[in-house]
Amino acid sequence: MVGTQAPLSFPMAHVILFVFTASTIFHLQQRLAKIQPTWEFQALETESPTHGPPSGMWTINAIGRLGNQMGEYATLYALAKMNGRPAFIPAQMHSTLAPIFRITLPVLHSSTASSIRWWNYHLNDWMEDRYRHIPGRYVRFTGYPCSWTFYHHLRREILQEFTLHDHVREEAQTFLRGLRVNGSRPSTFVGVHVRRGDYVHVMPRAWKGVVADRRYLEQALGWFRARYSSPVFVVTSNGMAWCRENINDSRGDVVFAGNGIEGSPGKDFALLTQCNHTIMTIGTFGIWAAYLAGGETIYLANYTLPDSPFLKVFKPEAAFLPEWVGIAADLSPLLKH
Ligand SMILES: *[C@@H]1O[C@H](CO)[C@@H](O)[C@H](O)[C@H]1NC(C)=O
Ligand SMILES: *[C@@H]1O[C@H](CO)[C@@H](O)[C@H](O)[C@H]1NC(C)=O
Ligand SMILES: *[C@@H]1O[C@H](CO)[C@@H](O)[C@H](O)[C@H]1NC(C)=O
Ligand SMILES: *[C@@H]1O[C@H](CO)[C@@H](O)[C@H](O)[C@H]1NC(C)=O
Repeated sequence: MVGTQAPLSFPMAHVILFVFTASTIFHLQQRLAKIQPTWEFQALETESPTHGPPSGMWTINAIGRLGNQMGEYATLYALAKMNGRPAFIPAQMHSTLAPIFRITLPVLHSSTASSIRWWNYHLNDWMEDRYRHIPGRYVRFTGYPCSWTFYHHLRREILQEFTLHDHVREEAQTFLRGLRVNGSRPSTFVGVHVRRGDYVHVMPRAWKGVVADRRYLEQALGWFRARYSSPVFVVTSNGMAWCRENINDSRGDVVFAGNGIEGSPGKDFALLTQCNHTIMTIGTFGIWAAYLAGGETIYLANYTLPDSPFLKVFKPEAAFLPEWVGIAADLSPLLKH
């Protein structure tokens, strides 16, 4: 890139004028590409790669529930930016995320989506070098990416995208403000997410793994009790009955808060993100709650047998931030039969 002769003596004003003109043209064209996407896909066959700035449309499948779709959104956001392509989300993803977050990516309407010949591009659940240079103009990512390795360098932007709407945040804050431990308002809030539901069966059957047990939760709560004076634990789960039976609340510092309604997860999710710290078990919902809360995080580690097929699609080091603290799962129930 850097030559040895001309550039140093090149008059500065010309350089500035050139940069200014080029960036103005670039921005104008980018805007046009957003305003009139229909022109773009009609030009599909005739593109000459050497003319003009990159354009096209990149999107991603909207599969799974809230945590998965947040991972898909953030991954699309990061990879499109890295490759200089405009990103559009499916309408279904918009209806999952927009009621909760102030997301900004434009929506791809289904009529547009169906008139484009997409290049389906499968993503693993961790960043790879080849994703930095994806040549297609009309790319649709597939898979369930949910790894900080795609987007952690854009953390501030990702947190901005996943900023809660005021009314969602205020509802969670009102709840937290009302909590008392020993009659006083706590100053440390620890969000606890206990993933149950289908995973209770799917983990042992399909993945040779376990979900969090009472011992893990007791250890994780103990970790915070040892470090903070009178923290309060705000428990959300899609198995609240199990939590009430298995999390010891006799100290008066545990509140079973979540409604666990899987169809409208925003309320539970907001509660977790408004807490200072996080205890998660498994699943992307907890990973995202911890990422957004941004405090200290305890996670369930090594919850599958070493020969689990899960480890072919999931890399723990790409899922959990290095500073998060893992507590190893008890795998003995898997070895009993
Ligand atoms: C509540 O107060 C009692 C008496 O001061 C103390 O022993 C106990 O540890 C406190 N509980 C919590 C959860 O801080
Ligand atoms: C619950 O915690 C209290 C206080 O630490 C303890 O005395 C009690 O034995 C525990 N209960 C169970 C069932 O573990
Ligand atoms: C902890 O969380 C509460 C509730 O969101 C918040 O009011 C408080 O400022 C947080 N504390 C710290 C140290 O961030
Ligand atoms: C999980 O297993 C890996 C590989 O055996 C090990 O290095 C790591 O320390 C374990 N994590 C925990 C929290 O025990």
